[in-house]
Amino acid sequence: MRFRTPRPESWQVCVACGNETTELDPHPRCAACGGLLEVQHRPPTLTRAALLERFTERRGQGPGAVASGVWRFREVVLPSAEEVVSHPEGNTPLLHRDALDRWTGAERLLLKHEGHNPTGSFKDRGMTVGVTQARRIGATAVACASTGNTSASLAAYAAQAGIPALVLVPAEQVALGKLAQSLAYGARTLLVRGDFDACLRLVEEASTRLGVYLLNSINPFRIEGQKTIVLEMLQQLDWEPPDWIVLPAGNLGNTAAFGKALLEAHRWGLISRLPRLAAVQAAGAAPFARSFAEDFEHRYAVRAETVATAIRIGDPASFPRAVHAIRETEGVVLAVTDQEILEAKAVVDASGIGCEPASAASVAGVRELVRRGLMDPAERAVAVLTGHILKDPGLLLKYHREMDPPPPHANRPIEIEPELAAIERVLSR
Ligand code: F0G
Repeated sequence: MRFRTPRPESWQVCVACGNETTELDPHPRCAACGGLLEVQHRPPTLTRAALLERFTERRGQGPGAVASGVWRFREVVLPSAEEVVSHPEGNTPLLHRDALDRWTGAERLLLKHEGHNPTGSFKDRGMTVGVTQARRIGATAVACASTGNTSASLAAYAAQAGIPALVLVPAEQVALGKLAQSLAYGARTLLVRGDFDACLRLVEEASTRLGVYLLNSINPFRIEGQKTIVLEMLQQLDWEPPDWIVLPAGNLGNTAAFGKALLEAHRWGLISRLPRLAAVQAAGAAPFARSFAEDFEHRYAVRAETVATAIRIGDPASFPRAVHAIRETEGVVLAVTDQEILEAKAVVDASGIGCEPASAASVAGVRELVRRGLMDPAERAVAVLTGHILKDPGLLLKYHREMDPPPPHANRPIEIEPELAAIERVLSR
């Protein structure tokens, strides 16, 4: 179906067949063809100046949802939402460190650190909107498949909303801290004997058959929340867009969200030109990079293998939305090796910032863009750090304590007897 004018304030549209449905339709996919849905809004009625003034006024206000780095942008996220489920989240810093300029070759690289969100990753921005929507449609339970961050985030927001949560994670590969969070926040946690792609297939089937509201990033309301990473970054830059935005890419929800945020901001006059997106995958989990190399003629699925567990995804669900995002922003997709990811992570960590392995893919990606001559060192780039340094501590300790020979940035701990002389010996080395 298609709406006749006047349209409602927001509605959902299928990106594959154009079928339209209401804002409160709970189906995870298009009922006509099974394609991915997207939320559309009528253009804001306020002028650019009035809208930006409103965003500025709300900045740093509190307590409650007004202080949220997501709901500050509510006119372009979910204008009709009233009672929102907010921690609050967002308000993450934009950082600069000379050490990262030196390592990447970019002259002034900025880092947007999404690990500063309440559960430790950018997923909170999508989840505040997703769980708000779950409450609006009267969901009796919510569910997701996850490599760790999504499950921790869903568990926290569902607990706040008082809605039972079901999370499916790969039994062998989920980071311990993330599993601990899901359990602590009270989600019913299923350890699936399979990889993330198997978890996602299973939870989608469960959501259609068992009537549980699906909150993976195929859910278009998650995408609306994740757009605010870009909106907040643009606000921090006084609405003067950078030349590049570089992000890690797994299931491609974030790539889709970034593209949507930029295109809308451009269409609605908030910015006057579009930055280029660079989506960075791990070489062992790079079906999107492979498609990009062939001008997106084919869609690939691979068996994913990488140390960056968050992006260990072989069959990304948001593929069509992400193709659109890359094409429309003259973007690029690249793959970096696990070794490059670990080295980038060690440099980000040693700069005092710190991030999880998957996040470091964006910084490794910046270096690769400069090295290939795609990015001019003088261009302004923002790399997004998607998660917290305390994700995957096992890998971190292995890197510093066990790898043999020690990698270039390894910081070996030293065991000593409880004597001053032992400390002196260490210091004199
Ligand atoms: N970075 C981190 C820290 C992530 O947790 C994820 C995805 C990504 C990047 C990739 O984002 O999927 O939108 O392309 N983590 C999901 C999860 C899959 O279950 O937590 P994407």
